[in-house]
Amino acid sequence: MSLAHKVAWQSPSNIALVKYWGKKAGQIPANASISFTLDQCHTRTEVRWEQIEATGAPFHFEIYVDGVESPSFRPKIETFFQRTSDLLPFLPSIKMEIHTSNSFPHSSGIASSASGLSALSLCMGSIAKEMGALEEDGFERFCSILSRLGSGSASRSVYGGLVVWGQHESIPGSSNSFGIPYPHHVEHVFTTYRDTVLLVEVGEKAVSSTKGHGLMEGHAFAEARFAQAKSNMDEMISHLQTGDVWGFGELIEAEALSLHAMMMTSRPGYMLFRPNTIQILEKVKSFREENKVPVHFTLDAGANVHLLYPAHVEQKVHTFVTEELTSYCKDGRFIHDQVGEGPKQI
Ligand code: PMV
Repeated sequence: MSLAHKVAWQSPSNIALVKYWGKKAGQIPANASISFTLDQCHTRTEVRWEQIEATGAPFHFEIYVDGVESPSFRPKIETFFQRTSDLLPFLPSIKMEIHTSNSFPHSSGIASSASGLSALSLCMGSIAKEMGALEEDGFERFCSILSRLGSGSASRSVYGGLVVWGQHESIPGSSNSFGIPYPHHVEHVFTTYRDTVLLVEVGEKAVSSTKGHGLMEGHAFAEARFAQAKSNMDEMISHLQTGDVWGFGELIEAEALSLHAMMMTSRPGYMLFRPNTIQILEKVKSFREENKVPVHFTLDAGANVHLLYPAHVEQKVHTFVTEELTSYCKDGRFIHDQVGEGPKQI
């Protein structure tokens, strides 16, 4: 198809420091979360579009991944358009070709939903503006709401640096509906933090995040977990304020283990850890203690490990990764990334 208009965005993935796990109807999080937006791990999406006579169908689109038409991606995008139809009332009267590709290897096991759904949401926000359905003011907030409806964590990818999603008392302006840039003081060390992603397992996860969130309903430890996340947000604010990389590291590890403990104690319980995940966690602990280097791990809902550390220990951590950790990674694969500035229109 050759369509009259086009819009394109590059949007990054993010890694949660205090995790979102468990939600209510309408993609409302059970607790507030905070993340670093990444830099190198991103999705580029271009939407070619033009106006058509409405046919009665709710939307018209084709989806291409890395240049190849990909029907397997349709259901996720259809769900996204169904959930956002009130916010995008012009959907029935445009047709679209969606072209998307990820900077990280296909099926690398990196959560592509945050980058992918935020990139698509930003494109839809731009179209909404062109269609006169949205003022310039509030563009990012609108796109964060769209992103949240696609995938909760995607709501945080619309901004760079540290981003909060979910209403939290000591974070003014925070909301369950959209992400906001972290509003309090952050010591410089955290603005250039590094993230090395160790790819332990690639491909589809055994249990999806959607299913995992669902298993928090009626979970024996749910209320305790939500209370813990709440107090961890306050502890995080204090570490960011004082630049305490050791306190910060201890906290992100506790959060990651708590997330996985929720999975193991769900009914039915499940494990996304792999033996190599545990080997890496042990190695990181020994390396940190022996060398007094502030490198700590976090995990999302999968087997891969994110190592977070300040820029000034980068060389030491890179050497450690190459010499001691690549043997636990699938095909020796890892990605050196860092805190990024957020999405870019291209
Ligand atoms: O956005 P979802 O539904 O894929 O859930 C993401 C959940 C975690 O990555 C485990 C935590 C988070 O806050 O990103």
